[in-house]
Amino acid sequence: MPEPMNPATPVTFPPAFLWGAATSAYQIEGAVREDGRTPSIWDTFSHTPGKTAGGETGDIAVDHYHRYRDDVAMMADLGLNSYRFSISWSRVQPTGRGPAIQRGLDFYRRLVDELLEKGIKPAVTLYHWDLPQELEDAGGWPERDIVHRFAEYARIVGEALGDRVEQWITLNEPWCTAFLGYGSGVHAPGRTDPVASLRAAHHLNVAHGLGVAALRSAMPARNSIAVSLNSSVVRPITNSPEDVAAAKRIDDLANGVFHGPMLHGAYPESLFAATASVTDWSFVQDGDVATANQPLDALGLNYYTPTLVGAADADLKGPRADGHGASEHSPWPGADDVLFHQTPGERTEMGWTIDPTGLHELIMRYAREAPGLPMYVTENGAAYDDKMDSDGRVHDPERIAYLHGHLRAVRRAIAEGADVRGYYLWSLMDNFEWAYGYGKRFGAVYVDYATLARTPKSSAYWYAQAARTGALPP
Ligand code: NOJ
Repeated sequence: MPEPMNPATPVTFPPAFLWGAATSAYQIEGAVREDGRTPSIWDTFSHTPGKTAGGETGDIAVDHYHRYRDDVAMMADLGLNSYRFSISWSRVQPTGRGPAIQRGLDFYRRLVDELLEKGIKPAVTLYHWDLPQELEDAGGWPERDIVHRFAEYARIVGEALGDRVEQWITLNEPWCTAFLGYGSGVHAPGRTDPVASLRAAHHLNVAHGLGVAALRSAMPARNSIAVSLNSSVVRPITNSPEDVAAAKRIDDLANGVFHGPMLHGAYPESLFAATASVTDWSFVQDGDVATANQPLDALGLNYYTPTLVGAADADLKGPRADGHGASEHSPWPGADDVLFHQTPGERTEMGWTIDPTGLHELIMRYAREAPGLPMYVTENGAAYDDKMDSDGRVHDPERIAYLHGHLRAVRRAIAEGADVRGYYLWSLMDNFEWAYGYGKRFGAVYVDYATLARTPKSSAYWYAQAARTGALPP
């Protein structure tokens, strides 16, 4: 029986629930030229004039590479029992092929050991957008060879850390890699070619499958392997057949393009039909989809805001309010007749509408589409224009309200039978928000960019209490 969600009853979570926070390598590490690391596409992109706000780069970021011990101590103080981070491919395999350099791997070994010592379960993401530049120079994700490079890299990291890390994620938000990196160009490498974006999506699917297989052969069988998808909650603006069809187009391009191969072993036919004017998909080789369709141990969901779409009148195309940055190039190949609408309601500093019902909807969709697969919310959070008060504190009641609402939505889904095992707040601390630079603060911990000092915001203390008690504070 689903439990009623009476606002007066305390919202408690299962005892083994993971209360985590997430980050990614390029967004926090800095130290971009140390210990043999070579440039990734994000180094190149952020150093290209006009690509990031104020020309900001991850050269220093929040200097986590040097401060990781203190950062782990801070996580322990905040009561976190899990931490999701990503590996910088350029640090462990600088040219993207061939043998690894141990100095790079040693950093992650030290980080993991520090976490384990503090009782914090590491969750490793292999690829969070920072492709070694040499691999992009060889064609990047749109070229076939990348799938083998990724499998090799997965094996290297699996062999190095598989004895001490149980939770693995192959790719983070492959949609962004393919469609923002190669379609709209607002992310590295900044290419704007719809065919390349679909080729990239396909190779991400195959790379994921080969990566899962490589991890399995490199690590103990007890480890759990997942992928983190930013599946969109796509809603039609009205129930008219035209708007519903527009929503289906975007659902295929946002979700079906990855869910299909990874979870169901086939691309949706409707995706092929909708993109026929762009490509004939002849880059899909026999056996690719079966390769992508590896059994998984869990699914990672990243959720921030829903997407509202409708059919466009012929003369009413754009502007696109799809929340993925300004570009005259669309990240949605073949969907020029779809209009993106602003969702009503309160927004965060990113302009993203706050709507916890979307997270509930997403979890329940996965519970139906991938029955039996445990789920983790691998990212959820909000950017606000946080300021430090004269008393040295950072008060962020809006973020507390955001977290509260979304964690209640998770709890409701669990009550309705969904197997959600953990939640990772994005992000542990303020960091480099890609094309937006440092201006958008997602952290539960405030970073003073002049001194790099860390100060937990009031949301961090609120979340720490939830983590310690297993129940949401009022
Ligand atoms: C998705 C990404 O995985 C992460 O890197 C980013 O900072 C957050 N969402 C917020 O945009």
